[in-house]
Amino acid sequence: MHKFGLWRRWLRPLLSSLRDGLALLLPSFLIRWLYGPADFAFLVHPRGLHDVERRYPFFRKLPPRVREWVLRYHWPVVLEKISVQDALGRCAKGYLISISLTAEQILPERILAKKKILQALKLAEKLGCKIVGLGALTASVTKAGTWLVGQTKLALTTGNAYTVAVTCEDVERLIAQQGLDDPLIAVVGCYGNIGEALTKLLGRHYRLMLVGRASEMLFAFLDRMKGCLDRETVISSDLDALRDADIVITATNSLSLKLTAEMLKPGAVVYDLAQPPNADHPSFWWSDKVLRLDGGYVQAPGLQMRFDLGLPKGTVFACLAETILQALEHDFRNHVGRVDLVHVALTQHWARRAGFRPALGFLEREEVIPNVCERFSNLRGDDARVA
Ligand SMILES: NC(=O)c1ccc[n+]([C@@H]2O[C@H](COP(=O)([O-])OP(=O)(O)OC[C@H]3O[C@@H](n4cnc5c(N)ncnc54)[C@H](OP(=O)(O)O)[C@@H]3O)[C@@H](O)[C@H]2O)c1
Repeated sequence: MHKFGLWRRWLRPLLSSLRDGLALLLPSFLIRWLYGPADFAFLVHPRGLHDVERRYPFFRKLPPRVREWVLRYHWPVVLEKISVQDALGRCAKGYLISISLTAEQILPERILAKKKILQALKLAEKLGCKIVGLGALTASVTKAGTWLVGQTKLALTTGNAYTVAVTCEDVERLIAQQGLDDPLIAVVGCYGNIGEALTKLLGRHYRLMLVGRASEMLFAFLDRMKGCLDRETVISSDLDALRDADIVITATNSLSLKLTAEMLKPGAVVYDLAQPPNADHPSFWWSDKVLRLDGGYVQAPGLQMRFDLGLPKGTVFACLAETILQALEHDFRNHVGRVDLVHVALTQHWARRAGFRPALGFLEREEVIPNVCERFSNLRGDDARVA
């Protein structure tokens, strides 16, 4: 193997993981001196084994039992440094920290996952961070962060407030661009943390279809939302109902829920917020009748991070953007539990001030959306009636 390949593929990842293990044991002052200053950390987990193999190429060479053992018992690791200079010239530095469990392990192994999250918070504390964002399923599994309160000195945020703000902005832009008249918007995972806030905000202006997997939970949720819904609203626990929706927002924590293009009506748009995604079925790639968009992404100019999140340059998840915004604004309070709609508006204001904006605007510039607009309006006019 080439000398550089050996260093990059084997030695560097191995040494940095050993360094992070030591960081959990050594005193804070030494760690801060070694790693440098930090304001925030953002917690993630591998979506699947492919993410682990991307970071540690030698991982695929290990026997399956050793792989499982490593994932179960490995300590949290620092994936990357993040630094930001926003439009006002304010700077923040932070770390992307990952626990070792994959999405598939987290949901059935909630107790172990929570233990790993607490370990990751300890690492963030040692690094000198003041606030930690709970990325992907780390929020879901800790009851939107509430389970962690009192167990750490760090401020915690789910990042769901800005995710909700970005989703509402994107959906409104889509409706305007597609020229949709009185669209029916489906929220899949409606009584989840993000789903509930979306229901409250979108339900003021649009007809909603609230989709969840438990009928009794759906009825209870509808009852609770009554005061917030100004337009006609239907509920369903059957995914077949999605065929009536013009826009489908997926916001579940399910690994098995996989929508396909055939389940939706021609001209429909899927806005997939879920991580791991709910609408990444190959049928969407070649469908010319349904548009699938990755939801909850933000363009953050002035952001520097070498770690490949698999996103276009300068683009990050909205929940990471919210953690950075909180660090830039020196807001070191907890934002966990039910999403506060006042905070949704505040994060939107912070983002504009910092020069962050929903990344859907980039698709717009690259003319992805305008191109499909005309095609889709034809579909809605002709095929949609037949469907
Ligand atoms: N793009 C971003 O920046 C960003 C930011 C934050 C979060 N996220 C992602 O957004 C998603 C939602 O996050 P959250 O914090 O709102 O999660 P959450 O509070 O755990 O809610 C998830 C909801 O999904 C529902 N669900 C599970 N399986 C379902 C199914 N088969 N059909 C319909 N509903 C189902 C759950 O219902 P039950 O209670 O019945 O199981 C639950 O109500 C997650 O995938 C998360 O990773 C993305």
